[in-house]
Amino acid sequence: MLVHNRPYRTIWPDTDDPTVIHIIDQRFLPHRFVIEDLRTVEDFCRAITEMHVRGAGLIGATAGFGMYAAALGAPDNGFDASIQAAAAQLVATRPTAANLAWAVRRQQAAMSNEDSPAAKRRAAFATACAIADEDAEFCRRIGEHGVAVVEEIARRKQGQAVNILTHCNAGWLAFVDHGSATAPIYEAHRRGIPVHVWVDETRPWLQGARLTAWELGQQGVPYTVITDNAGGHLMQHGLVDLCLVGTDRVTRSGDVANKIGTYLKALAAYDNGIPFYVALPSSTFDWRMRDGVRGIPIEERSGDEIHFVAGVTASGEPAEVRITPPDAAAANYGFDVTPARLVTGLITERGIVAAREEAIAVLFPEAGRA
Ligand code: MRU
Repeated sequence: MLVHNRPYRTIWPDTDDPTVIHIIDQRFLPHRFVIEDLRTVEDFCRAITEMHVRGAGLIGATAGFGMYAAALGAPDNGFDASIQAAAAQLVATRPTAANLAWAVRRQQAAMSNEDSPAAKRRAAFATACAIADEDAEFCRRIGEHGVAVVEEIARRKQGQAVNILTHCNAGWLAFVDHGSATAPIYEAHRRGIPVHVWVDETRPWLQGARLTAWELGQQGVPYTVITDNAGGHLMQHGLVDLCLVGTDRVTRSGDVANKIGTYLKALAAYDNGIPFYVALPSSTFDWRMRDGVRGIPIEERSGDEIHFVAGVTASGEPAEVRITPPDAAAANYGFDVTPARLVTGLITERGIVAAREEAIAVLFPEAGRA
C-alpha cells in the first residue's frame, strides 16, 4: 500500500543482501516512519514480542523470515537441533495469533523435505517469501469477496456513504499488504463507493488511533477516530451500517479471537441488527480447536501499556506520560473471544462463509484432515 505515495509492504528482504530483512517499525507510527533491519533469530523474536511488528498475518510472515534467519545461523553439524530450538523460541513470542505457529510449522515441513543444510537454507528462503506473497495475495482476494457486502449496503443507501466500524488494526500494517478488514474497504474506495470508517482507538496500545487512522489517511479513505466505548451509541443512532474486524485466531466452529473489546462491539451490533463480519486469511484458522472461549490462549501484556501513554507534544517532540496513580494495579488482557453466534459471516480468500462448523468445512475441506 502507499506511504507518502510510494508502495510498500510491511516486511521484505533486502534486494542486494537477502540475509537482511526489512520491517516497518510500527512503534513509531504515525509520527515517524522507521525501517528496521532484522538479521538474527533474536532480532525477529524481539520484533514480535515488543511489537515492532504486530497483527496476525504479519506476525506469521515475520516468523517465516525468522525461521530463515535461523537456517542461515544454524551450524551444518547440528542443523536440525538448532532449527528446533529457534522454532520453539519464535512460537513462544506471542500466544494468541494462529499464524505464528502455522508459519513455523510450514517452515519446518519445507526444510524437512531437503537433505543438505544448504538446500534447507534455500527452501527456508523460498518458503518465507511464499508465506509473505501468499499473505498479500489472500488479503487482496478478501478485498474482492468482501466488497460485495459494502456494495450491497451502498445500493440500499443510494449514494450515501457506507459507515463501517472497525476495531484495532486489521489493516495492511497487520499483514504483508492490503489488510484483512481493510481490504474490502480499500476495494470499495477504489471502485468509487463512498465509505466512511469509524476507527475505535483501541486502548491500550492504540492500534486504531495510531495505525488504522494513519493507513486509511495514506490511502485517502475518510475516517473518524472514536473512543472504544462510542460504538454502542453510534449503533443505536443508525450511524453504523457494518462492523468489519480482523482476527488473530478462528476455531473450526467459527469462534473469533480478536483485540480486546471486539466481543462488546459484536454484542452491540447484534442488539442493533447490524451485520458483524470478520475478515481473515485461512492461515488464521485453528483447525484443532472448537471452543474458542475456553481454548484460545489470551495474551496478557505488561500493565505499563495501560499506565503510560506515548505520543508527541504540540511541537512534535516524543513524550510519554503516566495516567494512573503510581501504585495502581493494571490487568492488560490483549484479546477476547466473540462466539460464532454473534458473527454474521467470515470473509476469506475463498469467499464469504457463515461462522458455522459445517459451512466452514465445505469451503475448507482441509479442516477435516487436521
Ligand atoms: O496485538 P496486535 O496488534 O498484534 O493485535 C492484533 C490485531 O491487530 C488485532 O487483533 C486485529 O484486529 C487482528 S490481526 C489481523
